[in-house]
Amino acid sequence: MNLGRKDLLGLKELDKEEIIKILDVAAEMKKILSQGVKRVPHLQNKSVVTLFYENSTRTRMSFELAGKFLSASVSNIAVSNSSVQKGESLIDTGKTLDALMTDVVIIRHYCSGAPHLLAKNIKARVINAGDGMNEHPTQALLDMFTMREKVGHLKGLKVTIIGDIKHSRVARSNIIGLNKLGAQVTLTAPKTLLPYDIERMGAQVKPLNEAVKDADVIMSLRMQMERQLSGLIPSRKEYGRFYALTEDVLNTARKDVYIMHPGPMNRGIELSSELADSPQSVINEQVTNGVAVRMAVLFLLTRGGKR
Ligand code: CP
Repeated sequence: MNLGRKDLLGLKELDKEEIIKILDVAAEMKKILSQGVKRVPHLQNKSVVTLFYENSTRTRMSFELAGKFLSASVSNIAVSNSSVQKGESLIDTGKTLDALMTDVVIIRHYCSGAPHLLAKNIKARVINAGDGMNEHPTQALLDMFTMREKVGHLKGLKVTIIGDIKHSRVARSNIIGLNKLGAQVTLTAPKTLLPYDIERMGAQVKPLNEAVKDADVIMSLRMQMERQLSGLIPSRKEYGRFYALTEDVLNTARKDVYIMHPGPMNRGIELSSELADSPQSVINEQVTNGVAVRMAVLFLLTRGGKR
């Protein structure tokens, strides 16, 4: 079983069956990990490189662990200490990795489309670990994996996403992926933090109280101040007054609703600290599931294929 494609660039490119295949293989990987096994031979003789032009804790670390647990050789390029600082282009950096016999490049970049450009120009397989405001496919896959594990199904699932949708590649990938799997996505945010084409993406927009009331899952997002060109909100405190997920808001939701956040969190801004640590929060499980999902992606992309 493999994905039959060279790269994983976004959920836009994957069909429903491919997404389900990744989630199913991730479930197998999770079973292996839950038995305490931290070394299987699936990626023996494969070389994986992480190339991150933006900061990361969860994604980079879980890809690194996923590669190591699958017996790949895993290396990290610290872009701030690399020849990128001497002016080397993305494509030349990629061709250098090809010359170093790299099988998989995992890239995070501040420009939307950078992984697509790299993938077109190098022999190594490319995995998008987040590109600008475009997509973060493996985050959405681990989010969907966590939802399916918790609720048992994705078809008909009611997922509410709160916050900075406009700048969130996580929201974008989740909307695309959840739609393909038959879930119903509702968004709530100040108008200035919603993309102009939101209805075309297949999500409905509702005020906060209506959006949370019937949700199976509520996902809170970080305010991405680093991607905001001008003041789209009066202040983070003001934003928090109207859009923070707090106990008061949660009292209007179902008792069995799950709380998710892709991280990193700004406690007390988009999500109260109490809710982040509450029994309804599955935030740490999302992180744990990220390793199994990334093992599945690495395995399905590289299995049986030549570089
Ligand atoms: N969710 C996410 O992408 O986290 P990191 O920025 O820590 O990788």
